Amino acid sequence: MKNVGVVGGGLMGSGIAEVSARAGQDVVVVESSDDAAKAALGRLEKSLQRAESKGKIDSADAVLARIQVVTDLDALADREVVVEAIVEDETAKVELFKRLDTVVSAPDAILASNTSSIPIMKLGVVTSRPTQVIGIHFFNPVPVLQLVELVPSLLTSADTTARSRAWVQDGLGKQAIDCQDRAGFVVNSLLIPFILSAIRMYESGFASAEDIDRGLVLGAAHPQGPLALADLIGLDTTKAVAESLYEEFKEPLYAAPPLLQRMVDAGLLGRKTGRGFYTYG
Ligand code: NAI
Repeated sequence: MKNVGVVGGGLMGSGIAEVSARAGQDVVVVESSDDAAKAALGRLEKSLQRAESKGKIDSADAVLARIQVVTDLDALADREVVVEAIVEDETAKVELFKRLDTVVSAPDAILASNTSSIPIMKLGVVTSRPTQVIGIHFFNPVPVLQLVELVPSLLTSADTTARSRAWVQDGLGKQAIDCQDRAGFVVNSLLIPFILSAIRMYESGFASAEDIDRGLVLGAAHPQGPLALADLIGLDTTKAVAESLYEEFKEPLYAAPPLLQRMVDAGLLGRKTGRGFYTYG
């Protein structure tokens, strides 16, 4: 698959667009407004210039030339694979998949979601082609992290899963693991309760944010601590994933602690807004 569509050019969508274009593919990114499209392009330019200055790519301009950022969903008509990476909101994603089903015209196109926690089945059944709907879940930062979780729903065909695997592994050079269609898949089912425990520990005054993070970095060889990681993921996304996990399993360990809820209400979303558990920029 050489013609890629990405819906949502935020943290993840711009990363997915970048790795696809770096792999020589033709990419169309659809954003929700002109301002958001401009921001997405800015993110791509900054990241590609960084990759060029580190010698990881020859030319940022050459990669950028393979990416178009637009606001019209119809631009996805001829795409062979479309990856949805809009906000983690079930209603918004369901609406989008209904529209993608009418817009994307290639008969065997794959309609994928990068959702962290929303059941793929819910997105598949609102289309006329649930056999071609699959979860392709990348990790942040997409240009750096190798893992992709492949999440077929009960209705996804073996052919869709095989072509998705070929695209991420042979096309993008990532490594895939297989997961069942349950909220959180493999990695977030383990990671989110860990992050929530760290937030509860900080909230209770048991230890400072710095000491919690230093503890895990120096004592468990994690590359960064759980609170710094929550800031990187985005506290809104962390909360949304926790809520989906809680809704699915009703386990207290998935319940978002009050501090996380208040920080999201306050717009303290982590790196993307300049302040979360730490202050940035
Ligand atoms: P983000 O908030 O950075 O980006 C979302 C983007 O989608 C924004 O640029 C927004 O303008 C755009 N958007 C919203 N509605 C749209 C629509 N209807 N059409 C076109 N564009 C629209 O969010 P982020 O972090 O990139 O997350 C996106 C998805 O990826 C979510 O489903 C999230 O759960 C998932 N994800 C997030 C990870 C993370 O570490 N942040 C990791 C893996 C998956």
